[in-house]
Amino acid sequence: MSEKIIIVEDDGGVRFFLEEALKDEGYNTRAFESYEEASFEIGNDTGLIIMDIKLPGMDGLTAIEDIRKRADVPILIITAHGTKKNAMDAIRRGATDFFIKPIALDELKVMVKRVLGTRKLKRELDLSKEEELGQATFHGVVGKSEGMRTIFRNVEKFADKDITVLITGETGVGKEAIARLIHKLSKRGKEFVVVNCASIPDNLLESELFGYEKGAFTGAYQQKRGKFELAHAGTIVLDEIGEMSPYLQAKLLRVIEIKEIERLGDVKKRKVDVRIIATTNRDLEREMKEGGFREDLYYRLAQIHVIVPPLRERDEDVLLLVEHLLLDTSRETGRLITVADDARRVLLDYKWPGNVRELVNVIKRAAIMCDGDRITIDDLPLHLRSDHALTNATYSDKSLDEAISDLERKMIVDALKQTRGLQSKAAKLLGISERSIWYRIKKYNIDCT
Ligand SMILES: Nc1ncnc2c1ncn2[C@@H]1O[C@H](COP(=O)(O)OP(=O)(O)OP(=O)(O)O)[C@@H](O)[C@H]1O
Ligand SMILES: [Mg+2]
Repeated sequence: MSEKIIIVEDDGGVRFFLEEALKDEGYNTRAFESYEEASFEIGNDTGLIIMDIKLPGMDGLTAIEDIRKRADVPILIITAHGTKKNAMDAIRRGATDFFIKPIALDELKVMVKRVLGTRKLKRELDLSKEEELGQATFHGVVGKSEGMRTIFRNVEKFADKDITVLITGETGVGKEAIARLIHKLSKRGKEFVVVNCASIPDNLLESELFGYEKGAFTGAYQQKRGKFELAHAGTIVLDEIGEMSPYLQAKLLRVIEIKEIERLGDVKKRKVDVRIIATTNRDLEREMKEGGFREDLYYRLAQIHVIVPPLRERDEDVLLLVEHLLLDTSRETGRLITVADDARRVLLDYKWPGNVRELVNVIKRAAIMCDGDRITIDDLPLHLRSDHALTNATYSDKSLDEAISDLERKMIVDALKQTRGLQSKAAKLLGISERSIWYRIKKYNIDCT
């Protein structure tokens, strides 16, 4: 059956005219005198609403806002001659177009056909796009590269088993996204608690994790449950586990072994049933060998080890993530934004040191800044473009000296990024002295903050 057209008009004559004219064209119509009556009929099968502005009860302008909150349906407004301002107001609030009374039959037919046609096309486009993109996501996590697909396959196998998981990978690769995925597929209730072990000082982290009784320490005015208790029957994510002190590492090990916790200042032991997922961008295996991280804890935490590959090793995922992000913005703003070919090449060439998080930021910003509905190379941040220019430089673009300087600058910037701005470490990476890196940072005016 064709989509329903709802008519809301208090003037009986106009209502009758509209209803008959549209029925003659084969449309399925329903007509009402007020928005209150019509509102019960608005649903998924509604293809179009034609509505007067002046109505008994809720007026048409307010009704537009109400419809917008409930359904994505085009709205055509009917307005009296000489009240064009109202019509503009209606468009601003989300109406698609307007008629001025008296309504001409031809105009009505053409407009209704056009609006319904556009809606159908848009739906088909959206659906086919979603279907296509849907195949490349796994419960909301985007990825079709071999690396991500292997992760999805494995997660499906172990998510509901009672084992600890260690997720490692560079900053912003999606470690937390994978942790959420594991939780979602674990069917372990809804508690998903993330604790960042790096951002909290050691003594606070202890009380944060295990909770405390009133008077346990100065400032403990009342008892507080810890994150382990809060995550009971659910999942706790220990983010940046590599930063945990040896003292807390020992305490954590005991919790994993006996599945019990004690609040600070309390002798009572409490049973906790929590799936532990640890995440880090540090190389725990190396730190374990060097003595910074307890070996016994490492093996307890890493019954399964998921390594999320950096985005630069997942070319297929870059453009896929971009498509997803743009589909999200188009849902929010109604603008369908695309990416020009040259901008695509830049996105693919870039090495994404900040991984998916960086990509998300770049695309969101570009979608806001671009003129029209197309992201071009000019909408991308400068450092992406200069990287691209550098990898694609040929002898005709630059003199040898310029090219060498560019390369030198780029290598220093990369090394500083890797070492989070630590000049001595960066110098070591590059095989030059600290004095030499200091000199070059000054020479190229590199921002180390
Ligand atoms: N495969 C993916 N599909 C969809 N969104 C993703 C994916 N990977 C990451 N993201 C998004 O990228 C951002 C960063 O991801 P996330 O926080 O999971 O990374 P992380 O590895 O935990 O970062 P950090 O090292 O800083 O803790 C989030 O907004 C997340 O939703
Ligand atoms: Mg994280």
